[in-house]
Amino acid sequence: MCGIVGYIGHRNAYPVLIKGLHRLEYRGYDSAGVALINPAGQLNIYKAKGKVAELEAFAADKDTTGYVGIAHTRWATHGEPNQVNAHPHYSESEELAIIHNGIIENYSVLKQGLSQHGYTFRSDTDTEVLVQLIEYTKRSAQVDLRQAVQLALNQVVGAYAIAVLDKSNPDIIVAARKGSPLVVGIGEGEYFLASDATPIVEYTDRVVYIGDEEVVLLERDHELDITTIGNVHKTPEIKRLELTLSQLEKCGYPHFMLKEIYEQPRTLTDSMRGRVNVELSHIALSGFIDNRERFLSASRIIICACGTSWHAGLIAMYAIEEFARIPVEVEYSSEFRYRKPVIHKDDVVIAISQSGETADTLAAIQLAKQQGAFIFSICNVVGASIPRVSDSGCYTHVGPEIGVASTKAFTAQVTALTMLALCIGHAKGTMTDEAYLRIIAELNRIPEKIGRVLEQDHAISEFAKTFTYAQNFIYLGRGYNYPVALEGALKLKEISYIHAEGYPAAEMKHGPIALISQEMPVVVIAPRCGTYDKVVSNIQEVKARKGRVIAVVSESDTRVSSMADYTITVPETEECLTPLLTVIPLQLLAYHIAVVKGCDVDQPRNLAKSVTVE
Ligand code: G6P
Repeated sequence: MCGIVGYIGHRNAYPVLIKGLHRLEYRGYDSAGVALINPAGQLNIYKAKGKVAELEAFAADKDTTGYVGIAHTRWATHGEPNQVNAHPHYSESEELAIIHNGIIENYSVLKQGLSQHGYTFRSDTDTEVLVQLIEYTKRSAQVDLRQAVQLALNQVVGAYAIAVLDKSNPDIIVAARKGSPLVVGIGEGEYFLASDATPIVEYTDRVVYIGDEEVVLLERDHELDITTIGNVHKTPEIKRLELTLSQLEKCGYPHFMLKEIYEQPRTLTDSMRGRVNVELSHIALSGFIDNRERFLSASRIIICACGTSWHAGLIAMYAIEEFARIPVEVEYSSEFRYRKPVIHKDDVVIAISQSGETADTLAAIQLAKQQGAFIFSICNVVGASIPRVSDSGCYTHVGPEIGVASTKAFTAQVTALTMLALCIGHAKGTMTDEAYLRIIAELNRIPEKIGRVLEQDHAISEFAKTFTYAQNFIYLGRGYNYPVALEGALKLKEISYIHAEGYPAAEMKHGPIALISQEMPVVVIAPRCGTYDKVVSNIQEVKARKGRVIAVVSESDTRVSSMADYTITVPETEECLTPLLTVIPLQLLAYHIAVVKGCDVDQPRNLAKSVTVE
């Protein structure tokens, strides 16, 4: 969380930085700020509470000249989200300015030490402590900025991606990372710096991903210079970006979330491209093929994830246990990492993360790796931290997901995990050839079937208006569609601020049924599958208490539709693939309710897309 961006070169830095901040706003939008060294050598900092647009309004009549600058969009951790706590932060002398993404865990000890040397603090942030420490080190050890950053970071416990400007040397930016992402774009005599490649893509496709505990010196018209915090030189590894600019734009949709919901027929085709081969009747996942024995000998699979990715993990548990007959445990990464879990050398740990940067998931797999487990990751962002520390994995290839509420990443994760379950099951012989071939053929039809669900968007948007009064929602599903109930409820909470709970349908009678009245909308996911009759009984229980039922059913259904107040249909498919269809109307329902309520769909309050703090 928090987005950082920097520029040094021959262009005006301010427009590059502002545009970059807009691209990174998904990482947090509590406040924004920019620091620039102008041609007269002054170091100016402007910051504002709220979104980047507030910063632009604030800086409109200020001096924004300069060919070097850094900027930040914040998701508050230390200190409330006000202007004082916004980044960049000056050092005591106002000679240095810093931006930071991460958390300095030992900041209070460092602060005490600096206070004894006469340093005072304007903000409540851990970041200001770090810039004071760098300044103190620079002066007391009589070293240059890079050395001061190296020495200071040796004293820091925590996570950081930082960039520092020095008024006395306007030809450089010094940046470093540990735990939080940082990428450098290489132009002609100029450098771009950002939390991810989205602010860089329109200027250059040559990038270097900075590694943990590496410090990078960006000097105008000089070669890129990377060292470790222990001052060991590193050779930069230049990579070509595959990202395109059109992937970062709304392309006529009112919100990124709606665009991303509509992209799903294409993104799922992309996720399966080169992997699902219907003619040859097989699935080729290189991450599985290269590590086949590791999967086949696994006595257990542990899945670690957070948020929506955790819901994809739950669906995978159903699929892996059904097809591969390997016991699966699905863990919240944040709990797993701290509860002294029992990990065996023959365990396979699957990390699921859209961003590939979620701090808890990263820490969970590092722990599992130390204890000898094999780490396989399912990620969307190529080159992110989680795939880099994994032994193997599978990218979902859905392109950048910008709406904070995850949609296309979720369906791609479920697709990737289903492919993996089929690969293991087929290789182990725990599923029949007939089932394997049938599901492969059906996977191939899913993009077209999602298209059919999307055709009901208008109807969903119409009845969504009826539910803006609601304070609460219940979502019910069973089997493969129980995690879909959780995901539907999460989508609604995230973007419309309506309290919603997902439940396994049969559990309703153990508590939530007490909440049901004619005020309570109950979304029931009831496609034709093994537990269909049971879910029908659950719907009758809801109707008997006058609850208002919104049902997601198969196209041929008549029983549930006759009981429900509103019905959305999905095409028939294999039971294990139903989540890929049933989740679509729930994404649309949450979207339309949020729009009618006037909520900020793409940037819901208090949330951030990439959670790089624990
Ligand atoms: C945040 C996002 C969610 C996401 C979760 C896990 O909470 O708002 O949409 O599901 O992080 O993120 P990851 O990148 O690891 O999938």
